Amino acid sequence: MLAALATLPGAVYEDPDYFSAELSQIFGSRDCFALHTARLAEPGERCCLLVGGRELILVRTDPEEVRAFPNRCLHKGDPILRRGESGRSGVIRCPHHGWTYGLDGRLIGGPGFSTPRERAPCLPELTCSVVGSLVIVRPEGTKRGGKLAWTSAGPLRRDEVSVSVKTIRVAANWKLVSVAMWNREWIYALPNLFVRHHEAGRVLVRIEPLSPDATCMEVAWASSISTIRDDRLIDCDLSIPTAEAEARQRAIGGTDDRTLQEALAITATEVDRAMESAAPYLLRW
Ligand code: FES
Repeated sequence: MLAALATLPGAVYEDPDYFSAELSQIFGSRDCFALHTARLAEPGERCCLLVGGRELILVRTDPEEVRAFPNRCLHKGDPILRRGESGRSGVIRCPHHGWTYGLDGRLIGGPGFSTPRERAPCLPELTCSVVGSLVIVRPEGTKRGGKLAWTSAGPLRRDEVSVSVKTIRVAANWKLVSVAMWNREWIYALPNLFVRHHEAGRVLVRIEPLSPDATCMEVAWASSISTIRDDRLIDCDLSIPTAEAEARQRAIGGTDDRTLQEALAITATEVDRAMESAAPYLLRW
């Protein structure tokens, strides 16, 4: 990616409306990396993550399956889990008024009522798939009519059994973070994923746009050994030069007279092209 991004108007790095359009048209509608399967190892384990600007609940329903739901209760629409929360249980219970869901998202009851299974409403399920040791999700839409491109490759296996995760907040637009990673020759595999092999494992970097000028990087060091030393995370060349990114952002500002819609189309095309070139590499793992 992302040579063409250097020619985009400055507003694509600063405009909140443009940022919302990116979340919807680039991250929301494409397949995004959510987390490594080692973080949801056992049935009943769940966690709440921001993926492509949407807060999602991901839950391991059986040894082969992970499901994804928006983190919104059917009762009053409040969040069911806190962002970053994880745990393990046979049900998912909303803390506000006690509505309770099965692991398949079906409402199974609450204080003073129970719901006949055949008439029970469900949390809207998102398209989600386990590809090797990666959980891939499409943050917008519903499972109906949704099929991830990655499932067609069949189940892949890596014997990674453990993962250690750190979160870094970078004061730069996500495109500048992407360019910085790209320049360091990380493999750019999905709109929000960069990967690099490293000694006995690989490093997965999930980028999450937070605002026009802030990006979260979730760094997961996945390995076939059961205990990962924390210092290995530090050892993975992840120095995103914030000052350099900011200087670049200033240099780019206002240098192009394209419309923002044209710019969005260029960004989306660049992301698709990069994903296409990375796909054969990703699918070999
Ligand atoms: S908002 Fe969840 S039970 Fe009321």
